[in-house]
Amino acid sequence: MQNQNQSLVVCVTGASSGIGRELSKQLIQSGYIVVGIARRKNLLEELASELNNKKFHFYEADVSNLEEIKKVKDALLLKKLIPGAIVCGASISQNDTEPNFKNDVVRKIMEINFFGTANMVDVFLPEFLKTGHGHFICLSSIASWRPSIQGATYPASKATVGMFFRGLNLRYKPLGVDFSTIYLGPVETEMWEGKPSFVVATPNVIAKKIIQLILNPKPISYIPFLSTTLSRLSTLIPDWLYAKLSSYLFK
Ligand SMILES: NC(=O)c1ccc[n+]([C@@H]2O[C@H](COP(=O)([O-])OP(=O)(O)OC[C@H]3O[C@@H](n4cnc5c(N)ncnc54)[C@H](OP(=O)(O)O)[C@@H]3O)[C@@H](O)[C@H]2O)c1
Repeated sequence: MQNQNQSLVVCVTGASSGIGRELSKQLIQSGYIVVGIARRKNLLEELASELNNKKFHFYEADVSNLEEIKKVKDALLLKKLIPGAIVCGASISQNDTEPNFKNDVVRKIMEINFFGTANMVDVFLPEFLKTGHGHFICLSSIASWRPSIQGATYPASKATVGMFFRGLNLRYKPLGVDFSTIYLGPVETEMWEGKPSFVVATPNVIAKKIIQLILNPKPISYIPFLSTTLSRLSTLIPDWLYAKLSSYLFK
């Protein structure tokens, strides 16, 4: 007899590094079919050879390019591989205010972190609605409710994508398509620029939690509990004080 997950195809954007890479590995180990998407083909190839498993499929594509994502969907349809769940992890974080305000960086971050996620929804939602089931998960951040001195747009993009998914969940859950928003605390990856600390989680722990959520959709999750709870409580203090306190976590 097959497990439920053995026939489930999970698409992971941002599979070439950090949380997406670890998630892809754990999904394969648990028997899922995984479709990994990212721009750095060499890293996807490395992951494929490390996994050495026919259930791992990968595509070099930029989520901010709608045509490239449509091509990925067409290729998946040909292989009869339509995802049951899509984890939207592709994101960048760059400083947009040092030494001067950089509008091109503002646009680039929103193009990838927000419009890139919207592109995934645009391309795959019609397939989910046809079958009456499907699950989109976005990796938002505690940065959604606190600004950062390291860059103004990244927090804005994460707040936007979270609110976007929460709205989509209200609209499409009754039609069988779930939209889950995960607010993540700091995680030790390329993106995290801080020091190791007890409040910084490993990609391993985060990937396990995401897998639990894939089969049991929840509109909103806060992972891990400690850092996200401290951060939510901190909304009672002013931005400048939070920025000062959190600066102790940065290198
Ligand atoms: N690490 C943290 O502390 C933290 C905290 C809260 C939330 N998050 C969220 O968790 C998610 C994963 O982050 P991470 O920490 O694992 O960072 P990461 O290691 O930098 O991974 C980001 C991934 O996104 C991919 N990506 C970036 N731009 C892309 C594009 N245009 N098209 C396709 N893929 C693209 C990157 O691959 P390529 O460069 O190969 O395209 C990479 O695989 C992000 O959404 C992030 O905002 C992270």
